Amino acid sequence: MAIRKLRYEGDEILKKKSREVEVIDEKLQTLIDDMIETMHKYNGVGLAAVQVGILKRVVTIDLYDDNGPIVLINPVIIKTKGAEEVDEGCLSFPNQFAKVVRPTEVVAEYTDREGKRMRVKAKDLLAQAICHEVDHLNGEVFVDKIVPGTLEYLEPEG
Ligand code: NI
Repeated sequence: MAIRKLRYEGDEILKKKSREVEVIDEKLQTLIDDMIETMHKYNGVGLAAVQVGILKRVVTIDLYDDNGPIVLINPVIIKTKGAEEVDEGCLSFPNQFAKVVRPTEVVAEYTDREGKRMRVKAKDLLAQAICHEVDHLNGEVFVDKIVPGTLEYLEPEG
């Protein structure tokens, strides 16, 4: 496992659309392991492969609860419900936080790392994380959809 280099604001790759994963091979498993390690190193709740420079539809999410990290390959949001203003940040935009409107519930389908097609009904933070990461796969970033006037820059510590 290895920490991958994160791509940050201003990197054109963040605006590109990621491609569907067709084969789940050794190389993809290594990418997934590295993404989880990288997400944990930076205390992220979620990471999309594009954020480490790989244009594949792969997402890792960890809410730091009993479920452990979740891996979503080729995720598709098939249903959304509700809308709420939530606080959001992104590992590619360090120290920037803003309010974004996200659904309170989503139903998503994805392939897990064993290749099984799954369906998840997610609420609140998990729903928000899935929406944020699926946006990344489509070349969209949260700063483009913030509630006007809510963007805050926090100074890095130390
Ligand atoms: Ni992000």
